[in-house]
Amino acid sequence: MSSDKADFVNAGVESFEASRLGRKDHWDSVYDREISNFKETGDIGEVWFGESAASKMVSWVRSNIGDTSARILDVGCGNGHLLLELADDGFTNLTGTDYSPQAIELAQSIAASRGFGNAITLIEQDFLNPAEVARVAAKERFDVVLDKGTYDAICLKPKGNGAADVDQAAIDTYPLSVVGSLNDAGVFLITSCNWTEDELVARFAKHLECTGRVKHSSFRFGGAVGQTVATVAFKKRRTLDS
Ligand SMILES: C[S@@+](CC[C@H](N)C(=O)[O-])C[C@H]1O[C@@H](n2cnc3c(N)ncnc32)[C@H](O)[C@@H]1O
Repeated sequence: MSSDKADFVNAGVESFEASRLGRKDHWDSVYDREISNFKETGDIGEVWFGESAASKMVSWVRSNIGDTSARILDVGCGNGHLLLELADDGFTNLTGTDYSPQAIELAQSIAASRGFGNAITLIEQDFLNPAEVARVAAKERFDVVLDKGTYDAICLKPKGNGAADVDQAAIDTYPLSVVGSLNDAGVFLITSCNWTEDELVARFAKHLECTGRVKHSSFRFGGAVGQTVATVAFKKRRTLDS
């Protein structure tokens, strides 16, 4: 397990402290390194939570979204692996955003090398900045918003330089950004290794309504059954005036 992955897994809820995984400079340097690796070896880099988590998300999209031209956004796309899998599956209207310009450069190079330059659009965007969220959603809001590991990283964002406390305002902004990116009938699918299914449902309850859960393999420890990752689907919660 890489030290980044171990940090994610170790950032349990009880000892929930800010970490470098919540800082932009960390991701910029990770993707700097991965750009060099990709140029030298063709290796696309980390597949967060493994191939199986990505393929479960793709299967869910294939089963629940009939239209392969649906507008799909992957928030915090990193190297764009999930988008490549969707493009391989025939989806043609894919957008990936990330606040690290290095991630966008890496994802662009990989998409072009696989011949998916037309199907996948990559845009630098801080998903916690309402103006940037509005800019990306301005043309047309998305039918599907996907997140694999980005909310987990945001939940580790330090409140200030070197602070141990997490930035609760950032965490609270995230569901508003999801709502602002989705069209009225849009769906949100998130995979997390830091939060259980029930925790995700509770955390987004004010703005988003759970519509389904994706099964992952579970483990049994001391009589309790647990999962290493959770994937939950949501739709926008109807407000009184909608
Ligand atoms: C654990 S990685 C997951 C990357 C990708 N989703 C995947 O599954 O391979 C977290 C990603 O979230 C991005 N990220 C963190 N905070 C962000 C923010 N506020 N806006 C946009 N991207 C962000 C990081 O740059 C990084 O690419």
